[in-house]
Amino acid sequence: MADQTSNVDMAKAQKMAEHVFGMLGGALASAMIYLGDRMGLYRALQSGEPLTSDELARKMGLHERWIREWLQGQAAAGLVDYAGDGRFALSPEGTCVLADENSPLFLAGGFCAIPAQMAILERLPESFRSGLGLPYDAFGPEGARGVERLLAPWYRTQLVPVALPKLDGVVSKLNTGAKVADIGCGGGIAAIEMAKAFPRSSFHGYDISKYALERAEANKARAAVSNLTFHDASSQPIPGDSSFDFISTFDCLHDMAHPERVIEAIRKALKPDGTWIIADIHGQPSFEQNLTDNPLAPLMYGFSVLCCMSSAMSEPDGLGLGTLGFPEPVARRMVTEAGFTRFKSHDFDNPINAYYEVRP
Ligand SMILES: C[S@@+](CC[C@H](N)C(=O)[O-])C[C@H]1O[C@@H](n2cnc3c(N)ncnc32)[C@H](O)[C@@H]1O
Repeated sequence: MADQTSNVDMAKAQKMAEHVFGMLGGALASAMIYLGDRMGLYRALQSGEPLTSDELARKMGLHERWIREWLQGQAAAGLVDYAGDGRFALSPEGTCVLADENSPLFLAGGFCAIPAQMAILERLPESFRSGLGLPYDAFGPEGARGVERLLAPWYRTQLVPVALPKLDGVVSKLNTGAKVADIGCGGGIAAIEMAKAFPRSSFHGYDISKYALERAEANKARAAVSNLTFHDASSQPIPGDSSFDFISTFDCLHDMAHPERVIEAIRKALKPDGTWIIADIHGQPSFEQNLTDNPLAPLMYGFSVLCCMSSAMSEPDGLGLGTLGFPEPVARRMVTEAGFTRFKSHDFDNPINAYYEVRP
């Protein structure tokens, strides 16, 4: 083998090593966030009152030495504030992001899927060889719970009060009594929020994940809504009878093996004056633009290989769009090919998602 070290700029190599080591730090900080969320440590800290490791351990019935190490790591990672004298506190901002499940900025919930997502790494070399990816259910029930908890804060806080009123004529139809479908509904939180807000309308959630549908049924029972039905789209696809006033697809088209078939089915299911809202990842139109203008690109490509592109390749002829594979030009092209004629972009102040209002 040729000696490659002679070409190496050691200062640049040192920087690269720091960069890679930082990524290992991020991975381990993620694991610690998983523990903090799972054991309720962030919630226990959320009063803002600085606690010692001994006080937190006693409050939680846990072992002080472990709590101390976790707290010191959290402070080192800039997640928990160190108040001096061995006391640690979660700031109001930290509470929004790490403890308060009802905050629009709550992120810790998504970390509950990390063990299931990382376990899938064992199976991915085979996918790299065969080309065939894994569906969402490969992550088991925790995968479905992680997606739900990651995306639910927006549905709980923004969908009904902020987003729906910006769509032309949709809220008045929902108030009067409309037929609605949420396709790729996951754990059903978006459909439940809409069903609660618009009791005169009837709602239908469609998904192909048995774990997501189990969660959707349990969430529906907890919410006690009666104007909502969930369907397994593999056996009960949306009917193509032009009967739906409003259809939503939230963060799912890029995950589908055949989004073009689902888009065609939506065109057939929607009334001539109906509306379809798409939420999908706010990617740049090209890889080159994602490389230079998308700070979230490393995260998105990682999610894609682990989850989104894998799901989109989980059938032998899957389109394989992946997390960044449905930017606005692709969305416009695909919906136009399916016969939609109106397309409007919305900015609902979400750094992750773009929103499109699409009509026949
Ligand atoms: C990222 S999750 C989003 C779930 C939900 N919309 C939410 O925001 O919580 C993508 C969902 O698309 C579903 N999905 C994938 N292919 C589908 C298909 N052909 N029809 C219906 N759902 C599908 C997956 O099972 C998964 O639940």
